[in-house]
Amino acid sequence: MRMFGKAGKAAAVAAIAALALTGCGRSEPSGGSSGSAAGFPQNSSIGVALPQKTSENWVLAEKLFNDGLNGAGFKADVQFANGGVSEQQNQISAMVTKGAKVIIVGAIDGSQLGTQLKQAKDAGATVIAYDRLLLNTDNVDYYVAYDNFKVGVLQGQALLDGMKAKKPTGPYNIELFAGSPDDANAKVFFNGAMSVLKPKIDDGTLKVVSGQNSFEQAVTQGWKAENAQRRMDTLLSGSYTSANLDGVLSPNDTLARAILTSVKAAGKPIPVVTGQDSEVESVKSIMAGEQYSTINKDTRKLVEHAITMVKDLQAGKKPEVNDDKSYNNGNKVVPAYLLEPVIVTSANVKTAYTDDPVLGPITK
Ligand code: BGC
Repeated sequence: MRMFGKAGKAAAVAAIAALALTGCGRSEPSGGSSGSAAGFPQNSSIGVALPQKTSENWVLAEKLFNDGLNGAGFKADVQFANGGVSEQQNQISAMVTKGAKVIIVGAIDGSQLGTQLKQAKDAGATVIAYDRLLLNTDNVDYYVAYDNFKVGVLQGQALLDGMKAKKPTGPYNIELFAGSPDDANAKVFFNGAMSVLKPKIDDGTLKVVSGQNSFEQAVTQGWKAENAQRRMDTLLSGSYTSANLDGVLSPNDTLARAILTSVKAAGKPIPVVTGQDSEVESVKSIMAGEQYSTINKDTRKLVEHAITMVKDLQAGKKPEVNDDKSYNNGNKVVPAYLLEPVIVTSANVKTAYTDDPVLGPITK
């Protein structure tokens, strides 16, 4: 996987500067080589290719896309690819054949859709990467997501804060978990967290007792709870028979709960465990004093912005972006609209979700 995300920011900026010097630079976002400038009929088909149901946010997105797009007069074609990458490839091809004017993609593997995205662009559709970046392709026009690097930074900081609150001085024993290596976000989350944790590992404040501190060692295939639970079981029996585990970096709530299940089954004291997604059971766990933190990335706002982009394209307008330098997909810097993630711990859990119809009542 090539460099992208904020870690690649400097390189991306340099690349843009070099292009501009040679006169080949694109000074403004590429808004779909065709289709977008002229707009398209209101009742057009809009494809939404979602990955597997690996967390609640995707399930909610399906409903919100269907309701929002159909409600705005478009024909929503929303598909999950529970069968894997080839199913998602076929779904995107079918969306192109059905004449979708915009294809919104939450990729299982952002680097495996090159052929289908080219088909989409050749047919005049605009391609929007949703939540996860599409990698190593020119055929993506926009990216809409929560700032993934910032998610990681917030997780890393929460891990430190949580451990410090329990025990004012280190050293602290920790273990690191990352998401699925085929998901472009997983490495960005990890890099964000490590931007906070690595200096503390280097100065001895933090000790990864297992020694497994690289992304490759920390990954959780398919974002599957059972894989995280199994790895935690192994880490506990291998490295924590006598040592105390103070904290675990978990990239999302599903994995956080699996890690907590493993720790409890081993009869160990509960460490500080981070998360992401504000899943119902994790928010309850934070309120009960078990999981330490989650991240609020309101799916309603993300889907709403993606649909705003579709409406702009339909009207022949260029969609608004607020970041044209951070997300280099290996081939181009994808113009992005990034939303701000918010850290949630027991300190703010009662106020974080006041306008959320599901979490609001639970956290009152
Ligand atoms: C999303 C996370 C989610 C994970 C697993 C990521 O790409 O950004 O919110 O927890 O996928 O579904």
